[in-house]
Amino acid sequence: MVTYVTDVHDAERESTGCETDRGAHDGGDVVSVIGAGRILPVVVLADPAGAAPLAEALLAGGLRTAEVTFRTPAAADAIAAMAGHPGMLVGAGTVLTVEQVDRAVDAGARFVVSPGFGPAVVRRCQELDLPVFPGVSSATEIQMALDAGLDTVKFFPAEQLGGVGMVSALAAPFRSVRFIPTGGVSPANVADYLAHPAVLAVGGTWMVAPRLLDAGDWAEVTRLTGAAVAAARAAD
Ligand code: 3PG
Repeated sequence: MVTYVTDVHDAERESTGCETDRGAHDGGDVVSVIGAGRILPVVVLADPAGAAPLAEALLAGGLRTAEVTFRTPAAADAIAAMAGHPGMLVGAGTVLTVEQVDRAVDAGARFVVSPGFGPAVVRRCQELDLPVFPGVSSATEIQMALDAGLDTVKFFPAEQLGGVGMVSALAAPFRSVRFIPTGGVSPANVADYLAHPAVLAVGGTWMVAPRLLDAGDWAEVTRLTGAAVAAARAAD
């Protein structure tokens, strides 16, 4: 069933059972919303004009979160447009520098994702009380995240690193860590990832493929998003 949530506060209340303060940048609330959605679309938007219809398409498909990557010059404008859309919880992805953290926050990003563990990026996010999910690919990097006080990390690139088997191997010693596997996640393997208890959510581009965004094929974005949500529900 496709759901349509018009207010992120509703999503937070649904997932946490409590009232939240949108302005508080509370990491727990953001993690709860991402964990409730279970799928984090990784967006590469070339034209910020696509941001508003993309937000509509994702919401119509049943997802209210998105990671908008700093891989195009449109990133900050796209974050601003999507973050201003009622119901959306938007983060910045591919954040590699402190300057990008600041631009992301100014644009309205509620969380930051990086492909790897960048100490300066993590520190800046923590100064701003902004939830940050750095990428990890090894036990050493997980320990760096733990040392920084983080317990939710992106696992990237997930399939290339060994997929669910590698998540299991890394989760065994790090009992408190929640993973967001990203990279190579697809309709074929999403249920396997989501069935793992250490997996908070998965990230991926398959429902927001750049060719769909470039073509403005919002109906297909909604269809693929709805199918992804259905697969996630089936895995729960
Ligand atoms: C990322 O940016 O996190 C990944 O490149 C997404 O990978 P995917 O295109 O395989 O989903």
